[in-house]
Amino acid sequence: MNLWLRKLKTEVPFTLKTPAEVARFELENNLPGFCFELCEQPGMGDTYRIESRGTGSYILTGGSTGLLYGAYRLIEDHLTGGSTCAPVSSAPKYSLRMINCWDNADGGIERGYAGRSLFFRNGRLDYSRDRIRTLARLLASAGLNVLCINNVNVHDPAQLLLEDYLPDLAALADLFRPFGVRLMVSVDFSQPMRHGVSTADPLDPAVRAWWKETAARVYAAVPDLAGFLVKADSEGRPGPFTYGRNHADGANMLAEALSPFGGMVVWRCFVYNCRQDWRDTKTDRPKAAWEHYAFLDGKFADNVILQVKHGPFDFQVREPLSPLLLGMKKTKLAMELQLAQEYTGHQIDLYTMIPMWKELYEELPADNIMSLAAVSNLGDDENYTGHPLAAVNLYTYGLLAWDPETDAEEAVTRWCRLTYDFTTEQEQTLVSLLLSSRRTYEKYTAPLGIGWMITPHDHYGPNPSGYEYDLWGTYHKANRNAVGIDRTHAGTGYLDQYPDEIRAKYEDPAVCPDLLLLFYHRLPYDFIMRDGRTLIQRIYDDHFEGLAETRTMAEKLLVLPFPEPDASVIRDRMNRQLYNAREWCDIINTFFHRLSGIPDARGRIIYD
Ligand code: GCU
Repeated sequence: MNLWLRKLKTEVPFTLKTPAEVARFELENNLPGFCFELCEQPGMGDTYRIESRGTGSYILTGGSTGLLYGAYRLIEDHLTGGSTCAPVSSAPKYSLRMINCWDNADGGIERGYAGRSLFFRNGRLDYSRDRIRTLARLLASAGLNVLCINNVNVHDPAQLLLEDYLPDLAALADLFRPFGVRLMVSVDFSQPMRHGVSTADPLDPAVRAWWKETAARVYAAVPDLAGFLVKADSEGRPGPFTYGRNHADGANMLAEALSPFGGMVVWRCFVYNCRQDWRDTKTDRPKAAWEHYAFLDGKFADNVILQVKHGPFDFQVREPLSPLLLGMKKTKLAMELQLAQEYTGHQIDLYTMIPMWKELYEELPADNIMSLAAVSNLGDDENYTGHPLAAVNLYTYGLLAWDPETDAEEAVTRWCRLTYDFTTEQEQTLVSLLLSSRRTYEKYTAPLGIGWMITPHDHYGPNPSGYEYDLWGTYHKANRNAVGIDRTHAGTGYLDQYPDEIRAKYEDPAVCPDLLLLFYHRLPYDFIMRDGRTLIQRIYDDHFEGLAETRTMAEKLLVLPFPEPDASVIRDRMNRQLYNAREWCDIINTFFHRLSGIPDARGRIIYD
């Protein structure tokens, strides 16, 4: 048994067909001696209610999936030493709680750090049924209910929607269905052109007809498919711009095809100029999503969801909340997070994300979005997430998608308790290391919100100017006097995309929060921070602190009694993190020291 399910008994038999059946099975097997009455009320959907009928006896009411979520709630409460204080009623904040896998048909995973695909091999769906069942159980126990199985960059576009492929897709959907998980597939916008249609223009009748027929065929095979996920006009992918159409034209065309079957179009907003000339100072990449979509607010069909990355760049360690998530009140929005640690340590370095997600909600009214999506950190490694402790991100993402008010410490503690048998002291050590891991990583990598000083393409390890003269619009413009981009009204104007109260927080470098200072402002190295240190001193200090914290983390982590094989993997990855943190610290400090010529006020070693 794997991850946080390791304390659950017996596999769920493949013969069970509905979430209600799985709920009953899980309760009876994992809480023996308890007494349950399950009342299925179809109208309740994912919602559940738990009432007590005296010690160890519960009435669980809910839709079929509601019963399943209620069952896991009861079992997990029990396993983590709490008791469910009935009555409890719980409903998810978001109806679609999605995982986006970036798996390719050849079995590789784009930005995958946990092995190869769990679903695909050699161009076909080819998988272990046992592992898929475990995955389905993991997702359900974390409250997740939609799984997009293929990469948004659809490299083999013919595949999933083809007639001879659909039985395989249907068989996979059958494995997930008893766990309340619906599949979704990524589609290529130019797909009709591979099937004899001369164009992919969304307003062309032949194109519309092709998508309608295709949707009918796909839904005949998988009637509860959640829908299509689309990356269009982004990083070289085809899209409506080729035909002079906008993204409402594109998304609505697909929405019309899916609507008879209740399917959703999840349309990603990761659209920017990825062939920018570094000499061009007019274009500022973080402005792109707003410029492409804000004017289309209210123009999307009911079954379209715009999926917006949480920040305006691309999953950097620290970014402000995307202004698009605040600006489109008449459109259904999903916020996209990334569990895959692309820029955040490749599932080698420890990086627990829930503290970062909670910060997003400080500025995001929970009602602005209607779904959450996260890029998967899963693969076919024995432990599913490469680093055994990276599983905390999958589990706590599920809790957050159910309830964004979830407390970060409680969520991480719950995961630890489900996963390991530690003493209270050991558990507290692990929880505090996990909760502080993001800040530690942030300290030794790119300073104060500037992002991107990472090895190009691979995105692990430091390279301060690796993206500086490239095409991707990701510049810091450090010279001998100053660093950063002015994104205020006087600069690129990015900040003007926000409501006034947010603009006011960041406009003035004297009040702008330190950790986003260099995202919003271009400042000289001798700029005096609020705590009296100069900017350059703050950069040096953060990096030395980040390295020191990593060393302390290693000392504390490596004496915890993890079971094998986790212990070996954790030891190996921690050693790699120590190496990485030292490289980052020394290279970033040396880079700024060489440029500025300003010594460290505390005389520590920086390499000339
Ligand atoms: C990043 C990532 C790509 C990915 C893209 C996306 O740019 O490096 O691998 O395809 O995001 O989100 O579409």
